[in-house]
Amino acid sequence: MEFSFNTYEDSLFRIIQEAADELNYPVFVIGGYVRDKILDRPTNDLDFVCKGSGIELAKKVSEKLPGKNKFNYFKNFGTAMVNHQGYELEFVGARKESYRRDSRKPIVEDGTLEDDQNRRDFTINALAIDLGKDKFGQLVDPFGGIADIEAKIIRTPLDPDTTFSDDPLRMLRAIRFASQLQFTIEENTFDSIKRNASRLEIISAERITTEVNKIILSPKPSYGFKLLDEAGLLGIFFREMVALKGVDYENGLGHKDNFYHTLEVLDNICEATDDLWLRWSAILHDIAKPPTKRFKKGIGWTFHGHEVVGARWVPRIFKRFKLPLDQKMKYVQKMVRLHLRPISLTNEEITDAAVRRLLFDAGDDLEDLMTLCKADITSKNPKKVERYLNNYKLLQQKIIDVEERDHIRNWQPPIDGLLIMETFKIKPTILVGQIKDAIKEAILDGDIPNDYDAAFDFMLTKAKELGVERP
Ligand code: CTP
Repeated sequence: MEFSFNTYEDSLFRIIQEAADELNYPVFVIGGYVRDKILDRPTNDLDFVCKGSGIELAKKVSEKLPGKNKFNYFKNFGTAMVNHQGYELEFVGARKESYRRDSRKPIVEDGTLEDDQNRRDFTINALAIDLGKDKFGQLVDPFGGIADIEAKIIRTPLDPDTTFSDDPLRMLRAIRFASQLQFTIEENTFDSIKRNASRLEIISAERITTEVNKIILSPKPSYGFKLLDEAGLLGIFFREMVALKGVDYENGLGHKDNFYHTLEVLDNICEATDDLWLRWSAILHDIAKPPTKRFKKGIGWTFHGHEVVGARWVPRIFKRFKLPLDQKMKYVQKMVRLHLRPISLTNEEITDAAVRRLLFDAGDDLEDLMTLCKADITSKNPKKVERYLNNYKLLQQKIIDVEERDHIRNWQPPIDGLLIMETFKIKPTILVGQIKDAIKEAILDGDIPNDYDAAFDFMLTKAKELGVERP
């Protein structure tokens, strides 16, 4: 196989060749870069393996590279990094023991290129290209990695039980690559994942989350999640999602399987957005359906309040996954809490007051909320779908009209707590909040106009009702 490198890569590889030559080291570019090159996926992360000291080689390369570059190394792990023109170059000496980039285990034993390839995770990640003078550009493919790329197969180079016991995270990586690349996992490899699934328990939440996020960002994440479930991995780190599975019947009446529904919503939303947090919102929107499930005679299955309970669960789930607990978490929480609002609006007459309230509660995230709600339509009845979509159009128009008129988005009521305290010379008690909320509600309901004077008069009346007099 012939490789064509871009101008940058070509001149970089020549410099690396020159440096390695001076040190008398064989050198190869290996792993993800080679895989992605063949798959035509852009990448700026390049891994080099040499027979010798990765740190010495990196140092030399960094001296020879034109312009500025940043050189870092970890002596204990025998790895060195060079950052140059937006490329991340990592150098390592070939090793006998298992390889992973984020390993914090000191290397103990040098090895040959073949040893190094043996201890990598998948055949498609064990490909190397020789950068030596005589063999420049030649592929080293001892495990049929190219054939596996062509056949779209994920397979371990060694007996999968050995590869996975070296680093159990690789079980998750197998599914992540399958989902990203839309590959299948070879049977023997998948059976081994099923057998060894419980070993994922020793892996840190951070490493698991990195892979899960990559599955979520893949083109059709349902594929990855179904594999996670089938392999027995999902329940180890995401029991709430597994609990969505299954259908109960009462008087011959079933509800939909919320696991598959959630995955459908997730796939739907992926067509509309690449945003990780909106995709997480899709995963979590119905997460509290199992504990809120009831069967009511004459009504059928209900999941009353699942959006409120679900929103309450979001911080706990984010904490466990070591996801950010800042605005991102608040955003997902808001999406989960509000995900039924637009649909409930389209089921009844869309009043101005209801739209104002939605605008007030969703603020800048209203468009995202609408995207989530649209993705939530998974009915198989085309008539129903058409009705929903038409109602959405109406709602969307109404939102534009109301916003133009009332400017409720990111709106703050014209009277704040401070003014209430000053007017009535009262301390910050519960009464202040009550008066403030009453003003906000009156404006959102359209009982009074959205202006200062009307709000001030309303405040005086409301305060009187509550037994507060102006001194
Ligand atoms: N690797 C491994 N076992 C791991 C992690 C990594 O064998 N647990 C090896 C693979 O050869 C992989 C290389 O290290 O190709 C680089 O790892 P990493 O950067 O995590 O993955 P990439 O394959 O580069 O893929 P991506 O950039 O999509 O993460």
